[in-house]
Amino acid sequence: MSFSFIQAQLAKQQALNLYRTRKVLDKGTGRLLIHQGVKYINFSSNDYLGLSQHPDIKSAYIKGIEQYGCGSGSSSLVTGYSKAHQELEELIADWQQAPKCLLFSTGFSANSGVLSTLGQNTNTGFYLDKLSHASLIDGAFNSRAKSKRFKHNDINQLNEMLSNSNSIDKLIIAEGVYSMDGDTGNLSGLNDAALKHQANLYIDDAHGVGVLGNNGQGTFSQQGIEKGSHLIQMITFGKALATQGAAVTGSEEFIDYLVNRCRDYIYSTAMPAANALATIASIKLCHSERWRREKISKLTNLFKSKLDECIEITDSESSIIGILTGSEESALFCQQQLKNNGFWLTAIRPPTVENGKSRLRVTITSNHNDNDISELANRINEVIGKCLQNK
Ligand SMILES: Cc1ncc(COP(=O)(O)O)c(C=O)c1O
Repeated sequence: MSFSFIQAQLAKQQALNLYRTRKVLDKGTGRLLIHQGVKYINFSSNDYLGLSQHPDIKSAYIKGIEQYGCGSGSSSLVTGYSKAHQELEELIADWQQAPKCLLFSTGFSANSGVLSTLGQNTNTGFYLDKLSHASLIDGAFNSRAKSKRFKHNDINQLNEMLSNSNSIDKLIIAEGVYSMDGDTGNLSGLNDAALKHQANLYIDDAHGVGVLGNNGQGTFSQQGIEKGSHLIQMITFGKALATQGAAVTGSEEFIDYLVNRCRDYIYSTAMPAANALATIASIKLCHSERWRREKISKLTNLFKSKLDECIEITDSESSIIGILTGSEESALFCQQQLKNNGFWLTAIRPPTVENGKSRLRVTITSNHNDNDISELANRINEVIGKCLQNK
């Protein structure tokens, strides 16, 4: 085929240990993952609350299919918007104490769609945390706004950028919980900066929602920050909520504007109504099964306490813990050794993380038990300890 760079770039990925492949799984959600008939304890999934096999969510999905059929049939602006979608939007607005909510089929599309819709003018400034997700970076840098990145959680640098900015409209963009380090955004610092400089604040809480806050509302609730009209929040359903899709919350006028102008929303088939009903069931479980969040936090503390001192981990404040291995090669080696011992973890390599910061990403869920955690920590101590000795 033409596009001669394809072959060269694939060869380069391979030479740098950055080549990606997919594994065909017999089962990929829940405590056990099955690959080629072999069972592994799954420490790779974002199913933080362990809800992906929950009977209430499955039955809501099935009932939804019986009532509405499998797909939604069209965009929300044509015939794709049902009572199920409306009910979910209202439930989320209430849960998140936000004026209004809009559903998207994926979090990626919500982020890139909203940012490209807001970034229509060169007199708009976007200020992104350095560790922002690819969908935020794509949305911002593909728009007409002037986009700049500040050092991770560095509120001083952000304030400096905002002070020097001559943009008319300003939007600060950051995350609640960072997916590769597991640390949280300094939402109170970001919020203060937004108020001081008359900027708006966009928080992607894909990894905070469900897991943090009394009723799983996410990072804002956990950090006790009151939500103002300058705030836009994005939450996803494919992680702790165990379904699929995303929601954006904000002022009534802002959401109406997205309905009228956001191309990702207007020109895309709405999520299936059954998925909306399943997500409603999932949010109800976030309220009623608080023990899941308590268990995650207990297991996470247990895991950290069992790791040897020589094991370097990220500054995690959530159930995502990065075990730093340095090179891409050691990350892949450790991943394979742990797999040989019955544990499924994913090696995370550049460009997902910085060069030299490759890691194993451990996600602890409420489906795990004390024994899973102790055994994993023991194997990591052994495998990474040996790697360090050989350096
Ligand atoms: C921080 C963050 N934002 C957005 C997304 C995209 O969400 P979705 O998987 O629903 O497209 C992800 C998923 O990887 C994510 O980690």
